[in-house]
Amino acid sequence: MADSNREESVLGALQWKQLHVSETRTQQTTRATCVLNGSHFSEGARGLSIQDECRGGPRTLRQELERRRGALGVSAGDGALSKQEGGPASVAEGLSSCFCPRNKVCPGTHGFLFSCRRPLLLGSTFFIPTGRRTYAGAVEPVGSKAVLVTGCDSGFGFSLAKHLHSKGFLVFAGCLMKDKGHDGVKELDSLNSDRLRTVQLNVCSSEEVEKVVEIVRSSLKDPEKGMWGLVNNAGISTFGEVEFTSMDTYKEVAEVNLWGTVRTTKSFLPLIRRAKGRVVNISSMLGRMANPARSPYCITKFGVEAFSDCLRYEMHSLGVKVSVVEPGNFIVATSLYSPESIQAIAKKMWDELPEVVRKDYGKKYFDEKIAKMETYCSSGSTDTSSVMDAVTHALTATTPYTRYHPMDYYWWLRMQIMTHLPGAISDMIYIR
Ligand SMILES: NC(=O)c1ccc[n+]([C@@H]2O[C@H](COP(=O)([O-])OP(=O)(O)OC[C@H]3O[C@@H](n4cnc5c(N)ncnc54)[C@H](OP(=O)(O)O)[C@@H]3O)[C@@H](O)[C@H]2O)c1
Repeated sequence: MADSNREESVLGALQWKQLHVSETRTQQTTRATCVLNGSHFSEGARGLSIQDECRGGPRTLRQELERRRGALGVSAGDGALSKQEGGPASVAEGLSSCFCPRNKVCPGTHGFLFSCRRPLLLGSTFFIPTGRRTYAGAVEPVGSKAVLVTGCDSGFGFSLAKHLHSKGFLVFAGCLMKDKGHDGVKELDSLNSDRLRTVQLNVCSSEEVEKVVEIVRSSLKDPEKGMWGLVNNAGISTFGEVEFTSMDTYKEVAEVNLWGTVRTTKSFLPLIRRAKGRVVNISSMLGRMANPARSPYCITKFGVEAFSDCLRYEMHSLGVKVSVVEPGNFIVATSLYSPESIQAIAKKMWDELPEVVRKDYGKKYFDEKIAKMETYCSSGSTDTSSVMDAVTHALTATTPYTRYHPMDYYWWLRMQIMTHLPGAISDMIYIR
């Protein structure tokens, strides 16, 4: 385990225990002894106990960690408190399971995982989800590597094309509106670089996708060596409760976000496989947790997540690495929504509503929902650098992450709660 990860788990375990100090004394002592005399400190550290902790007065987690390291005579990174060797797992499983020998997995992995939730969730406020990117190694040389990014007319795609170009990649920027002279396309073209080429690409059109495959293939110095990366970024969004959303809308969003991703990936995989390259799919936090009034978007992003996982498993033995980037709320920074587009969607939706739905919900309810959506659309982070960094890491690190979470604390914590706690609990917190 990397030192930083190990330290996180240690801090998590310590915090877990501190939380229990406030519970009944009998329980404290039993549990603390279990942790301290169990697999945590299986090599001669039995002198430590919860009483020591109480007498010592309050300490920060880091101070406590240092104190224990000192007491044990171990240095940071020795792993005396490694996750496997104790921590919350043993506590949850009771005394019988906590005396497991070093380097053996405690019995009852289920209990271990269950009991890890709490320290992970509660410890989440101690670390920044996006600021801990590390490079164990980076692929070299970036300069000779070709990358295609879809949806580069605006938003993340536009910024990514420029960012990856600045990093030295040979960038093919797929643009929906190249034919129509979109401003974003003009700006990318104005860079006049032989390493940045805009190409007409509607991901819903198999014909256009195949054309771009040929453009890329014929531009490569050695097509047999393949191309390095594909970033599936193109996407659209909409909103509306299930009863307000037409089947056409569901299909339209899926056609771009989901089938567009599948189509483009399938067409480029032969080139990517040859390079043992990378596929990076831009999903969303809404690909991990659902939200009311966002079902047409959520289902496509959940689909992108499933597709990415299946592809990752399949490509593992072939050397292709697949990552998912799950941005949080960057609505104000991109063109995914605008006040005009919300009004246009709302008008069309109301006009097309079945009479029974219109009558049952009423215009007042409908307008309130639209107003809520308008507020949401003027929110979010304006700084998209965490998304740029995530995609760059996925393309360049020797061991890219499976998932990246460029989002603020609020959404990060909410996502952890919604994905790791039982539905009844997250419903209680968030569904009102
Ligand atoms: N912004 C956020 O808060 C956020 C959060 C999570 C995930 N995401 C995801 O990030 C990705 C990029 O979105 P964005 O926020 O940067 O929005 P954006 O500014 O609207 O960018 C989306 C891009 O995709 C293009 N596009 C739309 N339909 C296409 C098609 N059929 N074929 C090819 N390109 C197409 C759009 O072209 P036109 O401009 O010409 O229409 C646009 O350039 C999307 O997958 C989105 O779901 C965004």
